[in-house]
Amino acid sequence: MSKGFDPRFMQELKQRNDIVEVIGSYIALDRKGNTHWACCPFHHERTPSFAVNQEGQFYHCFGCGVSGDVVGFVREIESTDFMGAIRILAARAKLAVPETNFDTERAVEMKKKRDTMAAIMLDSARFYLSNLYSGDSRAEAHLQYIARRKLSPTTVKKFGLGASLDFFSLPDYLAGKGYSRQDLLDSGALGETKNGKLVDFEAGRLIFPIINAFDEVVAFGGRLLEKSDFAKYKNTRETLLFNKRKTLYNINLLKKLKRKQTIKEVIMVEGYMDTISLYQAGFENVVASMGTSLTVEQARLVKRYSNNVMISYDGDFAGQNADLRGLEILKDENLEVRVVPMPDGLDPDDVAKQGAAAYQACLDKAMPLVDYKIHSLERKYDLSDTGDKRKFVSEALQVVASAESEAVKEELLKKLRDKTGISYHALERDLQSSSGEKQSTETPQPLQAQIAETASGTDKRNKAIRFILAAKLFSETYAKDFDLSTLRLSDETQIVVANYVIGREKAGERIRPGELFELLGESNAELNEILDLSYGDKLTGEIAERFFEDSVQTIAREDIEREIASLNEAYAKEKDDGKRKEIAQQLVECMGRRNRLKTVRPKK
Ligand code: UTP
Ligand code: MN
Repeated sequence: MSKGFDPRFMQELKQRNDIVEVIGSYIALDRKGNTHWACCPFHHERTPSFAVNQEGQFYHCFGCGVSGDVVGFVREIESTDFMGAIRILAARAKLAVPETNFDTERAVEMKKKRDTMAAIMLDSARFYLSNLYSGDSRAEAHLQYIARRKLSPTTVKKFGLGASLDFFSLPDYLAGKGYSRQDLLDSGALGETKNGKLVDFEAGRLIFPIINAFDEVVAFGGRLLEKSDFAKYKNTRETLLFNKRKTLYNINLLKKLKRKQTIKEVIMVEGYMDTISLYQAGFENVVASMGTSLTVEQARLVKRYSNNVMISYDGDFAGQNADLRGLEILKDENLEVRVVPMPDGLDPDDVAKQGAAAYQACLDKAMPLVDYKIHSLERKYDLSDTGDKRKFVSEALQVVASAESEAVKEELLKKLRDKTGISYHALERDLQSSSGEKQSTETPQPLQAQIAETASGTDKRNKAIRFILAAKLFSETYAKDFDLSTLRLSDETQIVVANYVIGREKAGERIRPGELFELLGESNAELNEILDLSYGDKLTGEIAERFFEDSVQTIAREDIEREIASLNEAYAKEKDDGKRKEIAQQLVECMGRRNRLKTVRPKK
């Protein structure tokens, strides 16, 4: 029989199992037009964002993003596979399931392929390991290298380090085990020469197996033993088993650690050697991003183990934008991020080699990202030199301006004051005028237009607006008293969302985020940005609450700053004394509002 079922059977099965009826038999649905709503059965939520579309016979959760047809729903809700779902639906519709080998063929085939590949990788890892202690004279160099880097035999075993001795012994060994050429190539364990011969592309290197959370060897990193023009490390290319974006080195041991104890924080390093050295020094809560900048997938992976991440990269990384972006990713996943400062030119491996206490001292100095940026600037400049000090202050103020909340800005300004001896007020004024200056170089615009421009122009403001809208949409209690009509918006989607919420609130009706899809369509990117905020716990808890407050403050402050800047400008241009007085009056009123803003926030 061919793959899968006869399409006619599938069609009939679906026709006899209307998606609304089927889903309605599991959860209560609330009809609204052509769409039926419920709280999503696949993630925890208090307001319905799970939509069932009768016309299209599909479901979609705007909260967690799951979607599918009736078969998919049954598969998920019954935690079964495709065949299981078919059997349940067929029984429901009193249909006979035709004989088929669908589940066998594709799924089992895939699983078999994966298993074979994993077996090849495991055999390779064992082969490399046995090389290391085989007594083969070619392994001498590897053993010496390991000794030079001060790795104990226990550590070597723990991480399964091994030795590749040449190009062809691994291919010969694997072929002897009966693996097919195709499987060997697909596994990524071997490469191919121009004339089609299988080779060990790690030839001569020290091998670091990369092991996933299920204890499968999915790839290798291989280090050169000596300096040369070749890449220092060679990693297995991406395969069915190995997706670099989703992998963290040492996640396997981190998982074991978590079974033994709560992991207060995860130390994130760059390299294999950093990981191993820290582990050996007693810092077992360590993983490596393996050189590249962090991905969302890696951030989510870490989050399963701890909400606190200590970034422990090489000394000078703050200058590299890719790495800083990586850190923003962690923050976006609501992880608490701190940066561990390193002595110049050293990496965590170097420090760990000086002893656990030396590294612990670095850990103790870990600081939030903005503080770290200022710390790096401080090292760049000589603060006893007037010219250097000026540059330092101006660059540091830019960092302060990028800080997420007013409370943090205030804190940082105080630190700058202590470092430079410049008064708090002078620093604060410079901070404000540096953002004001940029404005005065532009052609003057009417106030409303200026405000509208900021609304779409600044990323931070946009983030704040989205957060506020999301909190309102998902009826978070801390957002209850906030009046959306006070927000100045320029983005069309944001306006529709705000109006929708305002309308519902006025009518005293429930807010159903999913209804926005009827107003704005399903592929509205801005809407999806807003709704995505409800994923995970982004909107709940103390951090969310504080972020909400900060967002409101950020926006209010920005609006007032704008207003003040434009009033200042108008004042400077105005010739008529009477009108100047009027403007001055408005200015004073604005400044008063600005000062009040600062004090509403409860001090932590
Ligand atoms: P580093 O260059 O910082 O090396 O690369 P390292 O970890 O300190 O290595 P040692 O101490 O010289 O042995 C950090 C990580 O980036 C990846 C590896 O995962 C490495 O551990 N990398 C680096 C590569 O994949 N290829 C390279 O050529 C270099
Ligand atoms: Mn190193």
